[in-house]
Amino acid sequence: MKNVLLKVIFVCVCIMVPCSSLFAQETEDNSTLTGEQIFKKRCSGCHGKDGKTQAYGISRKLVEIPASEIGDRLTLFHSDKNLQSSGGVSGVMSKQVSTLEKQEFESVLSYVKSNFAVDKDKQ
Ligand code: HEC
Repeated sequence: MKNVLLKVIFVCVCIMVPCSSLFAQETEDNSTLTGEQIFKKRCSGCHGKDGKTQAYGISRKLVEIPASEIGDRLTLFHSDKNLQSSGGVSGVMSKQVSTLEKQEFESVLSYVKSNFAVDKDKQ
């Protein structure tokens, strides 16, 4: 009897776990989020809320990079399929940005440029 119950629980968990993650992805609609919200959700974990953390201890701090370079690097991460499938740290970063829709990408990029870049006051 106990065994049957355990099996039922096991099957339920096996069904629910993948379903709930599918559901979470489907309902995740970033199109109305501002650049700031996208940054907090998708970038700040590695780069810090204030852009002062070196992601994985290796990236530069966002606050130390000129806006034009931020644009160049992010655009590359966003578009380069080879980079996205590469295993290295650039691959890690590329995967983060490659899933952003064009509009989300544009808003988060302009947020980063005008709030963190070393020359942000000129943006
Ligand atoms: C899982 C951790 C992680 C997340 C999340 C993440 N990044 Fe990164 N990011 C990295 C790493 C690691 C590097 C360094 C990669 C390299 O130099 O090739 C990096 C590099 C960068 C760079 C270039 C920095 C430099 O040193 O030239 C920029 C700009 C950047 N990230 C912006 C963002 C933005 C904007 C987001 C959110 C859309 C984001 N990152 C999300 C880990 C992350």
